[in-house]
Amino acid sequence: MAENEIKKGLAGVVVDYTAVSKVNPDTNSLLYRGYPVQELAAKCSFEEVAYLLWNGELPTQEQLAEFTARERAGRALDPVVKQVIDALPVTSHPMDVCRTAASVMGARHPLAEDSSRDANMAKAVDLFAAMPAVVAYDQRRRHGQDVVEPRDDLGYSANFLWMAFGEEQVPEVVEAFNVSMILYAEHSFNASTFTARVITSTLSDLHSAVTGAIGALKGPLHGGANEAVMHTFDEIGIRQEESLEEAAARAKAWMEDALAQKKKVMGFGHRVYKHGDSRVPTMKAALDKMIAHYGRPELLGLYNGLETAMDEAKAIKPNLDYPAGPTYHLMGFETPTFTPLFVASRITGWTAHIMEQLDANSLIRPLSEYNGVEERHLP
Ligand code: ACO
Repeated sequence: MAENEIKKGLAGVVVDYTAVSKVNPDTNSLLYRGYPVQELAAKCSFEEVAYLLWNGELPTQEQLAEFTARERAGRALDPVVKQVIDALPVTSHPMDVCRTAASVMGARHPLAEDSSRDANMAKAVDLFAAMPAVVAYDQRRRHGQDVVEPRDDLGYSANFLWMAFGEEQVPEVVEAFNVSMILYAEHSFNASTFTARVITSTLSDLHSAVTGAIGALKGPLHGGANEAVMHTFDEIGIRQEESLEEAAARAKAWMEDALAQKKKVMGFGHRVYKHGDSRVPTMKAALDKMIAHYGRPELLGLYNGLETAMDEAKAIKPNLDYPAGPTYHLMGFETPTFTPLFVASRITGWTAHIMEQLDANSLIRPLSEYNGVEERHLP
């Protein structure tokens, strides 16, 4: 293979078909099983979208009732998973806790060695139902707070927030959270999904693939960016007494300085979208509602200042992590918990891809061009 055929980072390489989602950077659109993600975010619950991603069609009322009952029955934290989490230091990164929990759930799953489609669907729903309890419990234990048991009278998003904060949230907040879960759910062959597909292609099990995907998502070039966005806001300094304009001016100056130092600023740029991320307008609208709800215009100032300065200097647009980070901050999540929220959502997309990979599997094993020392021999 000639060197000029090497595609670093597999940029622009089409490696397989997928019917799960379609990303079209030219029209700035994202379809889940044919439906624009914006329509799903406006009209559906996250449970309906999860069902769609796995089954290819939105559920009927009857199917939704059955699926919802199944999800609600699987929400409680497994006592053994709780014990394992408790054995981890409270200083462990929440993504490490999530990754460990997914692995333990796999080892304990009654269908652990069964990779049939039915078994994988059951495992996917179990992970989807249980991961909020892991994320919520881990956030609470860091403050010595007790576990908040799930409520089966609440939908997925309302219950997630209930378990995290021990208080019911108002509908606007639940709705913004639901929107974020839908937007984070699926995005074709991104790094973590591809990781899951690579692991699956060896005929390994679903939990191994999800555990690996969580590892891939943790990095700041991928899902870890939503956490990193908040670190940027913190570095600039969040001053609640400040006006929108004052905050924007400070953020703009910070960005100009960062770019002058050739820094990469997390929450901006995308491998596929070069003219803006299709999910950002919907997530930004949710952020705007949260800023109004919590009365925090200075956060909008920081947001606008960074965005404007990046646009003027490099014409690089924000990605989904940029509005999601401050949205989760306003809701009360701790910054290191942001990427685990992404995990809870993306479990749906990952597992849809795992099942799709198995339906037409071929071992994923690319080639490399050797550029080390020439053949040599021991004396
Ligand atoms: N800040 C500053 N400059 C940037 C940024 C950024 N966030 N993103 C891209 N650039 C610049 C690069 O420095 C490079 O400039 P140069 O040509 O002058 O050297 C150019 O744009 C191309 O950047 P690459 O990193 O080569 O482009 P790639 O397509 O590989 O990058 C990536 C995509 C990794 C997402 C990149 O934009 C980045 O690192 N962004 C920050 C991390 C981030 O926000 N990730 C979240 C992705 S979305 C998600 O996971 C939901």
